[in-house]
Amino acid sequence: MTGKPVVLIVDDEAGVRESVRMVLKDDWETVTQPCGEDAIEWLKENSPALAFLDILMPGIDGLEVLEHIREGDSELPVVMLTATKTVRTAVKAMKLGAFDYITKPFDVDELRMVASRAIKNADLLREVDQLRSEVGSQYSVDNMIGESSLMQDVFNTVGRVAPLKTTVLISGESGTGKELIAKAIHYNSPRASETLVTINCAAIPDNLLESELFGHEKGSFTDASAKKIGQFEIADKGTLFLDEIGEMSPSLQAKLLRVLEEGEIMRVGGSGPLQVDVRVVAATHRDLRKLIEEGTFRADLFYRLNVVTVTLPPLRDRPEDIPLLIRHFVEKKTKEHGLPPRTLGQDTVEQLLGYPWPGNVRELENVIERTLVLAPDCDEIGVNSLPPDMTAGPSTAGPGTRQMVLDGRKSLDLAVDEFEKDIIEEALSRARHNQTRAARTLGTTRRILKYRMDKLGIEQPEA
Ligand SMILES: Nc1ncnc2c1ncn2[C@@H]1O[C@H](COP(=O)(O)OP(=O)(O)OP(=O)(O)O)[C@@H](O)[C@H]1O
Ligand SMILES: [Mg+2]
Repeated sequence: MTGKPVVLIVDDEAGVRESVRMVLKDDWETVTQPCGEDAIEWLKENSPALAFLDILMPGIDGLEVLEHIREGDSELPVVMLTATKTVRTAVKAMKLGAFDYITKPFDVDELRMVASRAIKNADLLREVDQLRSEVGSQYSVDNMIGESSLMQDVFNTVGRVAPLKTTVLISGESGTGKELIAKAIHYNSPRASETLVTINCAAIPDNLLESELFGHEKGSFTDASAKKIGQFEIADKGTLFLDEIGEMSPSLQAKLLRVLEEGEIMRVGGSGPLQVDVRVVAATHRDLRKLIEEGTFRADLFYRLNVVTVTLPPLRDRPEDIPLLIRHFVEKKTKEHGLPPRTLGQDTVEQLLGYPWPGNVRELENVIERTLVLAPDCDEIGVNSLPPDMTAGPSTAGPGTRQMVLDGRKSLDLAVDEFEKDIIEEALSRARHNQTRAARTLGTTRRILKYRMDKLGIEQPEA
């Protein structure tokens, strides 16, 4: 054995077998078989990297061998060898899962190229599968923390609905774990090996959101210089997570409702509907019933989304989970930052238990991270090491932040959050709490400013 990948060549004509072998033998280990029966027999004991199958052969033909391979659930890439008159059959073979086909008499360079492409493609697919299952295994409710009966109820519901195609609406305050639950639903469903697409409806300006979701045809509006595939199409066979659905405009809500009901989308400027098979999971930190009363959320869409609701309780309603979460984040963050093992003193834990956690689990995670990286080197972390803003006013991103990020003592995300909070608070105060004016100063919209404020836990009186 040479250690090179093995390529199987099946053809009833010795001349063809030999010429294919001659072309490939320098780069790959080649094995030839004269008929379908022998190929199937050989495949029982061997797993090549690629197979070339002649279509027309007496006895078991190439298509039947291909079907046999696919039934065995093998990922083996197959390239069909075909005489020009059987090209139609070759197309059928592609539908059965062949990677490509080559017409005889073949071009030497083309043969080499197709072979290396097929092998490379199979390698990539294997890699994607591997990554997907690694990512997927992280997102199981088993890895989520919560012994409280409120969280146990959540986990039970997720376990029951994940395998179904049902639309799920996840509600809960900022930082309660909505995105984590959305991922758990996708990765514990039969769609786990397909794509999970996340769209944050609050982060995309309303006029762009429609084409982001449904795509557009070239020239359908002034900026549309090229065709764009929408996220619904990208999520086909998988899951689309619509985060912050409460921020979607009523006109787009109507379009979304139609997609959910018909199972088909319409590209902006497109001529006809396209079928899509997408499971939708939506989340919001808002009270949609209240938005319905206020007239900004459509009741019909709400009932369509609300088939199953998962409500994530705020952290202050499940204090018994706080010590578990602390332990979890201390472990996670010490590992992430390569810090020596540490624990939080009992008084520190008690201090944290007494805090109302407006930013919920995310805030707790950030506080633990900050405390760990800033605490003096000692085994047990005391109350003094807790961030001052837990007891005093809001934090500011001081001049040392840059260095702390560069030294790896603070995460970039956290520094950016602190900076953003600081700037927004300052802009609001200068605008005398007029959010529209503050938004203009910051070059954003009031809607997006409000969303960022909620996310960062900035409470301000409306001027
Ligand atoms: N039960 C839990 N166990 C472990 N980690 C959790 C749990 N809930 C939330 N987290 C962590 O808290 C952080 C915030 O969670 P997530 O982003 O899912 O919240 P969210 O509700 O989507 O927040 P937002 O409304 O701000 O978007 C994440 O880092 C997540 O991993
Ligand atoms: Mg979220």
